[in-house]
Amino acid sequence: MTHEPATAVLHWGLPRLRDLPWRHTRDPWAVLVSEVMLQQTQVARVVPKWSAFLLAFPTPAACAAASLGDVLRLWQGLGYPRRARNLHATAGIVSAAGLFPSDLTGMLALPGVGAYTARAVLAFAFEADVAVVDTNTARVLARVGGVRLTQREVQAAADHWLPPGEAWAWNQCLMDLGATLCRPAGPACTECPLSSWCAWRGVGDDPAAGSAGVSRAQAPFAGSERQARGRLLAALAHEQVSVGAAAQVMSHRAAPRLVDDLCAEGLVRRDGDWLLLP
Ligand code: ADE
Repeated sequence: MTHEPATAVLHWGLPRLRDLPWRHTRDPWAVLVSEVMLQQTQVARVVPKWSAFLLAFPTPAACAAASLGDVLRLWQGLGYPRRARNLHATAGIVSAAGLFPSDLTGMLALPGVGAYTARAVLAFAFEADVAVVDTNTARVLARVGGVRLTQREVQAAADHWLPPGEAWAWNQCLMDLGATLCRPAGPACTECPLSSWCAWRGVGDDPAAGSAGVSRAQAPFAGSERQARGRLLAALAHEQVSVGAAAQVMSHRAAPRLVDDLCAEGLVRRDGDWLLLP
């Protein structure tokens, strides 16, 4: 197999690699925190949160020793707080084990670590030869192939293109290519190092639409349950809230159910008439 396309991507990408702080470390904990934050939050919002989080919890043991409430306080503004709960649980498991898993099976056994996050940590912390499929790389692979892919096909395509020994650089470059050139709308095909291998090249129906691993537009935040849940967690980061006041804080008609959900998920604790962070 020729690795010409891979060489072209690395030539394009390495001199332009975005200078992101998690790209300067190979510490699996720091890399895991970055990848969990990046799952559903944009790079620019993650950068300051990642630094603050690692300052507070430089190791899994430091995170495990904190309460979930303290972790949730630092998670403020990132959204999707189940990620923080899973990270806290992972910190407990890893610090009890005394070391980080360094293979796919061990990684996938950690709470909240799926196919994407497991491979991202293996590639970016351990520099293992694995191909990472995130929304950016999935979009690039579907377009280059010119067809909508299933989950299995997109991982197989990613594995096929991976240049052995270059997994760290390759995955970072392909993510940057997706984020900066092969954008969801208005791709910059004339600047793309893959254009001569690309079946799509921006003409006709976009093969990435509906292809596995390619995220769709998020539902509107304003008025959502997610927003209401976030309002309560933001209030609880400062002080406890009475059960009676929760509906007002959340400003959502489904507030009672949302409070029950948050308690069931372990993100909020109820103590008599009071709600507080766990
Ligand atoms: N999105 C997910 N992982 C990323 C990474 N390592 N760098 C930039 N964006 C990302």
